[in-house]
Formats: sequence, C-alpha cells, structure tokens
Amino acid sequence: MKTSNLEDVRLTLIATALTGLAWIAFTQPLLAADGAKTVATPADKVARGKYLVTTSGCNDCHTPWKVGASGPEPDMSRMLSGHPEKMELPAPPQPSGPWIVAAAATNTAWSGPWGVSFTANLTPDKETGLGKWSLRQFSDTIRTGRHLGRGRPILPPMPIPMYKHFTDEDLAAIYAYLQTIPPIQNRVPEPVAPKQ
Ligand code: HEC
Repeated sequence: MKTSNLEDVRLTLIATALTGLAWIAFTQPLLAADGAKTVATPADKVARGKYLVTTSGCNDCHTPWKVGASGPEPDMSRMLSGHPEKMELPAPPQPSGPWIVAAAATNTAWSGPWGVSFTANLTPDKETGLGKWSLRQFSDTIRTGRHLGRGRPILPPMPIPMYKHFTDEDLAAIYAYLQTIPPIQNRVPEPVAPKQ
C-alpha cells in the first residue's frame, strides 16, 4: 500500500469515528428524554391514583349507594363524599350471635363492636373534605391508622391493616387523584361510641 492510500484509510477511520461521536451527541438527549418517560408526570400520577382508588374499593364505602336500574350501586353523583350528613338513622340493630356488624343501605354507616362509624368525605372540599390536607397528613393517616397521623384511631371497617402497606408512590398518587375530583360539601358525623 502506498503512503497516500494509508493516509486515506486513516482519514476515513477518523471521519467514521467523528460521525459516531456526532451521532452519540445527537441521540443522547433523545435517549435521556425517552428514559424520563418512566418518571411519572402529574397526569400519570393522577391516572395511577384513579386506578388505585377504583380497584381498592374506596367507592364501596365512601360513595353512598343508591338503588339503580340494575340494583344497588354507588351514586357517582356523590362520589367519595362519605356518609350523607342529612341521612336520618334509627339506632342500629342489636348484634345477635355471630352476626356482629350491620351496615346502612348507603354502605356509609357501620355498626359493630367499635360503635357506629361513618365513612369520611374524601373530596377536596376545604371545610368538610380533604381540601386542606397535605400529602403528609394523608399518608400519615393511612400509615398510622390515626386521624392526621396523631388524632383518634380510625375505626373499622376502614381497611387500615391492608392499606398501610401502600407504597409512598401509591399514597402520593391516591392523594393527587383525590385532590382533582369534584369537591362536595358534606359534613360527616362523628362516630358514636359503643354502649357499655
Ligand atoms: C370497608 C369500607 C371502607 C373502605 C373500602 C375504605 N374506607 Fe376509608 N373509611 C371507612 C370508614 C368507616 C371511615 C371512618 C372511620 C372513623 O371515623 O374512624 C374511613 C375513614 C377514612 C379516612 C380518614 C378520614 C379522617 O378524617 O381521619 C381516610 C383518609 C380514608 N378513609 C380513605 C380511604 C381510601 C383512600 C380508601 C380506598 C383506598 C378507603 N378509605 C376505603 C371505610 C372504608
């Protein structure tokens, strides 16, 4: 091979290497942007929260039930607004034998050995719902089973023993979703202590 040919080969190699470097420099930000897709955007977080709320049964207890065309169903016009404050309830039935729990037709008031509990308003209403709650207060409530993480114990049948295992990300997603749903003003009554 002549010297000039060797020179050509060397130049070609250098050019190829430079093209490669240029390609990496060009694609790196794109790859990084693509990788960033796995990090949740606020919309992803809300969608995940909606999914968790829907599949974890929050509407079973926190949305008052009505009798619809095909039987009892959560009344989604009152989604997650808790036990209706205006609903009048007679004294709960006395437990008999192994039957110890009774629920109102709305599925929002429950009587058992703990007394009577009423499901909370989870909508972002500032006065009667979770509108003024921080993520920290919400997570602490679920994790410790105490109102705002330090108040009175949260009564059954709120499934704290299961929900306390939600990850931080899941709790943040549930909280984010709950803050986006329509606020409904509904002041849920305080629980009634069991008769001694
Ligand atoms: C089996 C019924 C049931 C299900 C399912 C349920 N809850 Fe509850 N929840 C309750 C009851 C009853 C209370 C009120 C307990 C009390 O007053 O001590 C409550 C209370 C709460 C509270 C505490 C409010 C406060 O002021 O301290 C939060 C927060 C809450 N629920 C969120 C949720 C979320 C989020 C879900 C779904 C992931 C859910 N709950 C599912 C029955 C339920």
